[in-house]
Parts: sequence; structure tokens; C-alpha cells
Amino acid sequence: MHKRNRWFISIGLFYGLLGGLVALTYLAEPGLIPGNVPRIHGHIMLLGFILMMIYGVALHVLPRFSGKDLYSEQLANWQLYLSNAGLPIMIAGWLALLNWLVLVGGAVVYAGIAAFAVNIIMTVKPNGPWR
Ligand code: HEM
Ligand code: HEM
Repeated sequence: MHKRNRWFISIGLFYGLLGGLVALTYLAEPGLIPGNVPRIHGHIMLLGFILMMIYGVALHVLPRFSGKDLYSEQLANWQLYLSNAGLPIMIAGWLALLNWLVLVGGAVVYAGIAAFAVNIIMTVKPNGPWR
């Protein structure tokens, strides 16, 4: 497995554990973490845990399913950088209740999703007629 894909899976598991801790802390002591805690928890789980896990598994499996190399390793590396830069910025924005900061982080995460979309479409695209 490519080192980058292992990173995606490890980081996904890390966020899953972090998101659980955030929710448990919120339930035990509601005022302890500042800002919009349900939003932070929800997006750590969805963008951190679930999406990173999907990224790692999909980048490994889909080229093999389609019998081709991944369209661009470089683009997938950028996907790793963008998704991991953007999510902490979103979290910081929700911690400080600064909507513009959530927007900046969200735009960076979105660029990562776009990189993934282009890479996967180009990878699974059939060379010959559709089967
Ligand atoms: C460790 C287990 C988990 C615990 C203890 C937990 C607990 C919570 C709590 C207390 C809330 C806030 C409810 C409220 O608004 O008062 C919440 C919201 C939420 N949780 Fe979890 N959760 C867990 C796992 C997950 C997982 C695995 C996911 C998704 C993959 C998830 C997604 C969400 C979402 C999307 C919200 C709504 C966020 C929002 O309102 O912005 N949670 N959870
Ligand atoms: C580029 C990525 C994303 C950005 C910038 C983003 C941003 C936001 C923002 C700003 C809100 C709060 C809206 C409000 O104040 O009412 C929100 C809520 C929410 N988002 Fe996201 N989000 C993203 C990705 C996702 C993904 C991938 C999922 C699910 C798979 C998701 C699930 C939710 C849920 C469940 C809520 C709570 C909705 C509610 O309280 O009714 N988000 N998101």
C-alpha cells in the first residue's frame, strides 16, 4: 500500500478517536470546550474519520478495480495536504466562532474533494467502449 494511503487511514482513525473524545467531553462537561462543539464533533467525524478513511481505501482499491494506475499520484498527495490543512482551520473557526475562518478551511477541504473527484474520474474512465 502507498505510504500516502496509509497516512489517510491512520489520520482517519486518529480523527475518529478525537471526534469521540470531543463528544464524550461535551456530554460530561458541556462548557469545557468553547465554540460550536456539535459542529466540531460532526465534522471531525464526517470529514476527518469517514472521508479520510474513504480517501485511503478508494485510492488503494479503485485503481486496482479498474486495472489501471492512479491517474495522478501528485494530485492525490495534494489531496492529503489540502484535506489535512483545511479541517483544522474549520475546527479553529468553530472553536473561535469565526464564520470566515470556517469558510477558509471549508474552501481548502473542498479543493481536496475536487482533487479526489478529478483523480478518480480519470482513473476509472474506460479506455475503450463502456462495459
Ligand atoms: C463516540 C461515539 C459518539 C458520541 C458519544 C457522539 C455524540 C454526539 C453528541 C453528544 C452530539 C451532539 C448532539 C446535540 O446537538 O446535542 C452529536 C452530534 C453529531 N454527531 Fe455524534 N457521536 C458519536 C459518534 C459519531 C459518529 C461516528 C458520527 C459520524 C460518522 C457522528 C456524527 C455526528 C453529527 C453529524 C452530529 C451533528 C453535528 C451538528 O449538529 O452539527 N457522531 N454526536
Ligand atoms: C467542504 C466541506 C464542508 C463544509 C465547508 C461544511 C460546512 C458546514 C457548515 C458551515 C455547517 C453549519 C450550517 C449552519 O450553521 O446551520 C454545516 C453543518 C453540517 N454539515 Fe457540513 N460542511 C462540509 C462537509 C460536510 C460533509 C461531507 C458532511 C456529511 C457527510 C456534512 C454534514 C453536516 C451536518 C450533518 C451538519 C449539521 C446540519 C444541521 O445542524 O442541521 N458536512 N456544515
